[in-house]
Amino acid sequence: MKCDVITLFPEMVAPVLRQSILKRARERHLLDVRVVPLRDFATDKHHITDDMPYGGGPGMVLKPEPIFAALDRIKQERGGVRVIIPSPQGAIFNQGMAEVFSREERSLVFICGHYEGIDARVMQGIDHEEVSIGDYLLTGGEMAALIMIDASARLIPGVLGDSDSIEEESFASSLLEYPHYTRPREFRGMKVPDVLVSGNHRAIRDWRRGQSLLSTLYKRPDLLAHAILTNEDRQWLGQAISGMRKEGESVRWIS
Ligand code: ADE
Repeated sequence: MKCDVITLFPEMVAPVLRQSILKRARERHLLDVRVVPLRDFATDKHHITDDMPYGGGPGMVLKPEPIFAALDRIKQERGGVRVIIPSPQGAIFNQGMAEVFSREERSLVFICGHYEGIDARVMQGIDHEEVSIGDYLLTGGEMAALIMIDASARLIPGVLGDSDSIEEESFASSLLEYPHYTRPREFRGMKVPDVLVSGNHRAIRDWRRGQSLLSTLYKRPDLLAHAILTNEDRQWLGQAISGMRKEGESVRWIS
């Protein structure tokens, strides 16, 4: 996966890419991310990248020229690009988008806005998608870009140590994860469930599946609408729901 992050604040982005799994993915050449300092593309003496809005009003607006110049350079170097503008006005990012991004052949170019916004001619003159990471306001697009890169990069084959872990985990299967335990077997009076130390792999698998189903039922029942469930799963959920009813709990059930 290739990415270019156009930003006024390279130090908000670069250090994150030098840690942990993203660092390893870059070292293995599975992920190629370049941080592109917008200021380098401002041609005036003071490298000005923003200006006052026409018509007045608070805040500053990112000028179009450095953004177009940065993108022209990236196009020359990368060939194909897919431009993403992180914005609270965009479609909400989700696991499906992460999967599509992880398979993208072109470079994903993130244009990170700050201050009051970006000159509207950027959106007018550049083929792009606006993508939001949720219904709240950030100070700029950098952290949103990092979140999208992180969620997408971990889906590239070979980035995570054990590719099976992708299959099993939340959202890929539309179910939340089962609880995980490590040593010690007892901590502050809290014990690891016996089944996990029983050595009975079938019983462990069934217990984990049951925990995933229960956790999803309690915390995110909306996800069950998209989950692929076996007859056994449905039976188990049915029993759990009738148990909850008996205890007088309300269930938000989406069939
Ligand atoms: N920039 C500001 N807020 C944002 C959000 N919620 N998602 C993406 N980019 C943003």
